Amino acid sequence: RTSVIRIPVVVHVLHHTEAENVDQSQIDSQIAALNRDYRLLNPDRSQIPAPFGVFAADALVEFALAVRDPRGDPTSGITRTWTSKETFPFDPFDPLATEKLDAMIKFGQFGKAAWPRDSYLNIWTCTIGGGLLGYAQFPGGPAATDGVVINNTAFGSGGIAQAPYDLGRTAVHEVGHWLNLLHIWGDDRGGCSGSDNVDDTPNQADSNGSEVRLSDFPHVTCDNGPNGDMFVNYMDYVDDDTMLMFTKGQVRRMNATLAGPRASLAT
Ligand code: ARG
Ligand code: ZN
Ligand code: CA
Repeated sequence: RTSVIRIPVVVHVLHHTEAENVDQSQIDSQIAALNRDYRLLNPDRSQIPAPFGVFAADALVEFALAVRDPRGDPTSGITRTWTSKETFPFDPFDPLATEKLDAMIKFGQFGKAAWPRDSYLNIWTCTIGGGLLGYAQFPGGPAATDGVVINNTAFGSGGIAQAPYDLGRTAVHEVGHWLNLLHIWGDDRGGCSGSDNVDDTPNQADSNGSEVRLSDFPHVTCDNGPNGDMFVNYMDYVDDDTMLMFTKGQVRRMNATLAGPRASLAT
């Protein structure tokens, strides 16, 4: 594919306090971050270690706030909903935790229903507890819960976004899942058998977090030397300032999604 795909986005802001009612500039900064990173226009791409830079790819996907609502009327592409929930609680030890969040965030008295997923990428932003920055639904799930949820302190830049998650890259990561990308370490905790089913990302033992900085290159696990883990990938867990690229292989996977289960959005 050589043409750009433009995906209409609706941002559903759920707020209890007025500060959580994130302002237009914070929302705009999030859309701009998606466009910067999915088009490989991020200025910090110059910091990608050279052996990985050759795999860095432009996904040829752009995002824009919707201009028509589901009825065809003009819209800002933003919904704002007051919620009586001060925090949407997340328990990292509960295997049903995101299902429980979905039940509160996307339905009923506390939440806001999705717009049709055939025509929009739904992004909810709200206050999530338990240290969760965001989560996503992969292609093929239920329509009513399709989209990504981003903690309002890890959403875009400025406003109530907080370092080290204030460069909009939580949404870049979650939209990667929404386009069917897996975690780069293959989701096996520390093992070397898990895979992200992408051929140009090195096999890597575990996620890398805030403790792994650019100066730690190369970070070798699973005999993946000399270059080691591609921890600068958006599908790892490093800080926003260390996430810098998707690979060509990841872009192929996203393209398969945009030609398959999410083809209706690729207009
Ligand atoms: N679902 C992941 C989490 O909540 C998202 C990680 C995003 N990382 C980042 N640096 N923004 O931990
Ligand atoms: Zn993830
Ligand atoms: Ca791999």
